[in-house]
Amino acid sequence: MNAAIRAVVRKGVYHGLEVLGVYRGYHGLIHGNLEPLSLGSVGDIIHRGGTMLYTARSDEFKTQEGQERAVKTLKERGVEGLVVIGGDGSFRGAMQLTKRGIPAIGVPGTIDNDIPGTDFTIGFDTAINTVIQAIDKIRDTATSHERTYVVEVMGRDAGDIALWAGLADGAESILIPEAPYDLDEVVERLRRGNKRGKKHSIILVAEGVASGVEVGEEIRRRTGWETRVTVLGHIQRGGSPTAFDRVLASRMGAAAVDLLLEGEGDQMVTIQKNEILGIPFEEAFKQKHRPDLSMYQLAGILAI
Ligand code: F6P
Repeated sequence: MNAAIRAVVRKGVYHGLEVLGVYRGYHGLIHGNLEPLSLGSVGDIIHRGGTMLYTARSDEFKTQEGQERAVKTLKERGVEGLVVIGGDGSFRGAMQLTKRGIPAIGVPGTIDNDIPGTDFTIGFDTAINTVIQAIDKIRDTATSHERTYVVEVMGRDAGDIALWAGLADGAESILIPEAPYDLDEVVERLRRGNKRGKKHSIILVAEGVASGVEVGEEIRRRTGWETRVTVLGHIQRGGSPTAFDRVLASRMGAAAVDLLLEGEGDQMVTIQKNEILGIPFEEAFKQKHRPDLSMYQLAGILAI
């Protein structure tokens, strides 16, 4: 997200705009927490995880009164356009602001990669790289002890993190919410591998499917094998962003400024087949995010 903020500020300044940063999202907007951002204030952040502007959930912004207060703040500060970096909830807020006269453009930022209309969201690539680094380490000890490991990853209701990390790491089974799974089959696959002399097995569970602890317990009960569970948790949301994420964020942040300069609002920046495009929020929300299930099938074939 920092790389996106940097791109918005620098692209804006390049075009002669004055850019303000809103601290703590919609909460900050309601409470007037805005400050001018200069070229220098976004220096030395492109390689840092998180967001220099902080983030917060705001129940107040869900109310009409909250939205009116946010618009009042923006108008008082002479703001003519807004870039909102976030996900579904943030974009619904951006739609409301556009309706109330402040053109807003969304930039998709979430590790879950679950926003419809875009192939990738900012943060996803960094998260899956964190996951595979963790699994590579788990694999070392799994091999030494000849154990089965269940690793639970984030993703909310989406299976993209589990799917991509599972394929990248050669997991024996990947459990995602978008595909039905059968624990008998998972166990059968483990047994087949064991007979062939496999020293360890990794099972990736998306948090939207089940608790990794429960899956691990069930596998141990059915096989009698020593099974360990790791819940990766919030380490997936931090760390220095990958080159892919920095480039994506830079391209998307700059595109958001271009859209505002063209007089657009109510749009989300997307990446589709490596092309950066703005699409109306309405159009994005009509779709449903689906992970690429051909990758799921491939992962199953490769982990035979
Ligand atoms: O949306 C990002 C995400 O990290 C999800 O993967 C996860 O379910 C959720 O946020 C966790 O939120 P919190 O940090 O509020 O527990």
